[in-house]
Amino acid sequence: MSGIDKPAFLQAASLSEALPSLWEALQEKVDRMIGQLKGKSPHVAKEDGKYDDMRLDWWTSGFWPGILWIMHDMTGKEHYQSAAWDWDERFERRSIEPDSNFHHDVGFQYLPTAVIKHKLTGDPDGLRRGLQAANFLAGRFNLNGRFIRAWNQDKIGWAIIDSAMNLSLLFWASASSGDPRFEQIARAHADTVVSRFIREDGSVCHILSFDPATGEWIEALGGQGAGPNSSWSRGQAWALHGMANAYRYTGEVKYLRASQRVAHYFLACLPDDAVAHWDFRASESLEGEPRDTSAASCAASGLLELADALPALEGSLYRRAAERILLSLTQRYGTWDRPEHEAILTQGTGHKPAGQNVNVSLIYGDYFYVEALAKLRGWQRRIF
Ligand code: GLY
Repeated sequence: MSGIDKPAFLQAASLSEALPSLWEALQEKVDRMIGQLKGKSPHVAKEDGKYDDMRLDWWTSGFWPGILWIMHDMTGKEHYQSAAWDWDERFERRSIEPDSNFHHDVGFQYLPTAVIKHKLTGDPDGLRRGLQAANFLAGRFNLNGRFIRAWNQDKIGWAIIDSAMNLSLLFWASASSGDPRFEQIARAHADTVVSRFIREDGSVCHILSFDPATGEWIEALGGQGAGPNSSWSRGQAWALHGMANAYRYTGEVKYLRASQRVAHYFLACLPDDAVAHWDFRASESLEGEPRDTSAASCAASGLLELADALPALEGSLYRRAAERILLSLTQRYGTWDRPEHEAILTQGTGHKPAGQNVNVSLIYGDYFYVEALAKLRGWQRRIF
């Protein structure tokens, strides 16, 4: 694109200046994606700009329908709702197949589908499926260790920071069913996040291993981060956003402070263009390390949650930081000049230690970018 052809939002000096034309461009982009993705369950898009089609029980399957529901809520346009409508039904069918592998990430899957569908339309099947998913998540709670078990197979004693985002399903389930047990479990796990996952300096580890019988802590594991003592940036974002959500649902100040602690560490580690590297402790200078735009967009949305939770003066630090991140994502990491590209953002990192999905587009990066921009456009409802 030459300077003359460049849309206003790519040349704007601030996000507030960019936002009106950016929001228009985003709607056009999502409309185009509906035609491109059809029924696909997108996860990763590489160089060719084509999203893959992952199995429906993969943890990322809720994000594309989540984008559609946000767009529907923001615009009232029916075509977003029609494209989003049947995802929770598809999950339900998948969940009774013999090789189904749903786990703690049902929050990432059912909140942006069944639950938001029920919130927006009153659909009774959405409510039923959301509550079933909450029951499934609650059933993964380890009473002695006070954590929600993450994955299946032999990882019975493993808890991961990503679950901080899935707690919203439990908070919602208590509010909509009147049964406090879901919230009791969510609070217990959130307390473990505060006491065990978030370090004193505000950095966060990815995986903790506990003895599943006694609940005793065994060790931290590097997981998708560079090592057990490192600071995987998407894990930081899950903790930051997840604890801000837990504060919104409970009013417990310890969750708000935990989110702030993580936010301060996250912001202190950002490079000049405000888009996080994949792990803040991957190397000493981080020179040449890949970025993770999904960590950036999820953190930006969490920072906006923090800003809303605090008095205006105290919250402005977080709002300004979120706007700086979102402007940089928009102007440096977008696919605006490639209409055939099926994703919104580039340069996400999925699992660097495994050599998987480095420097790619990730549907959850796209989702949290849309979620954050919708918040800045006045979106009141929440998915997480
Ligand atoms: N929840 C897995 C990830 O963040 O990659």
